[in-house]
Amino acid sequence: MPNNILLTGGKGKTGTLIGELLTQKGFAYQIATRHPVSDNEVTFDWMRPDLADAAFNNVKALYIVAPTNTSDHGTVVLPLLEIALRKGVQRFVLLSASSLEAGAPMMGKIHTWLVANAPEWVVLRPTWFMQNFYEQRHLTSIKAEHTLYSATGDGKVGFIDALDIARAAVSALTSDKVMNRDFILTGPQALSYADVAAALSQALGKKISHTNLTISELSKRLQHNGLDENYAQILAAMDGEIMSGAEDRTTGGVNSLTGVNPGSLEAFIHRELHRWGV
Ligand SMILES: NC(=O)c1ccc[n+]([C@@H]2O[C@H](COP(=O)([O-])OP(=O)(O)OC[C@H]3O[C@@H](n4cnc5c(N)ncnc54)[C@H](OP(=O)(O)O)[C@@H]3O)[C@@H](O)[C@H]2O)c1
Repeated sequence: MPNNILLTGGKGKTGTLIGELLTQKGFAYQIATRHPVSDNEVTFDWMRPDLADAAFNNVKALYIVAPTNTSDHGTVVLPLLEIALRKGVQRFVLLSASSLEAGAPMMGKIHTWLVANAPEWVVLRPTWFMQNFYEQRHLTSIKAEHTLYSATGDGKVGFIDALDIARAAVSALTSDKVMNRDFILTGPQALSYADVAAALSQALGKKISHTNLTISELSKRLQHNGLDENYAQILAAMDGEIMSGAEDRTTGGVNSLTGVNPGSLEAFIHRELHRWGV
């Protein structure tokens, strides 16, 4: 079982929860961050190869959250993973996405590299996070307009709680077993955005609707909210994939890694009610 765990993205949605679970289980870990403030945080930036050697000192297991400020993961991330390998990192656990096979752009490139180079590896491929509904654009429209915008039509997603991804990651980082495979991770139910709006309405005690847009309307809306044109088009097109059924599935991935079934949307909303000001 690898020791000396380093969490990139350790202050993000999954990384924070992974740290809490590792502490509960008695594993030591460090957080790799661009803005270290405490003793268990090391300075790390995917754009700064000069910092990597020191950051990977004594690391045996590495949790990889790719940078969110570039999509060129082949050029940016892989050289740093080469350094990690040279420094003796044994196990690599990548947070990828259900829509990205090995060989696909972005995390798909890292996935391919792990298969070819990593002594031990796991690729976690979660679908869309339940946490998105209490952040940024969805939170804003739920609060201000009592609606969820998407271009997903009646398409369904097996929305997953980031806590289940974190549990799966802890198992992948600490298990005695060498897995060397990917896992598609979903929640227990495939749900449409209208289903999510209905669950939110029930829990928040007020009517929340789903407003369906065309892909082009959603792209314009995202740009209006501050995203650049390219990123807005990519995100809007992903809704089109959902509409055509690409995410309409549930898998046993979480249970395979943790031995426990993933939590429901209702349980997630109940736990996080304060996020919507209730
Ligand atoms: N949200 C979803 O529904 C969803 C679904 C499937 C897959 N994913 C994937 O999950 C991953 C994480 O997404 P998220 O939205 O949950 O983000 P997040 O983990 O909450 O936040 C991003 C993290 O990345 C770190 N980071 C960003 N740029 C960095 C850089 N240049 N160097 C070092 N660290 C950097 C930040 O750390 P510091 O600021 O501390 O440096 C931050 O902790 C992404 O790859 C995303 O594609 C998301």
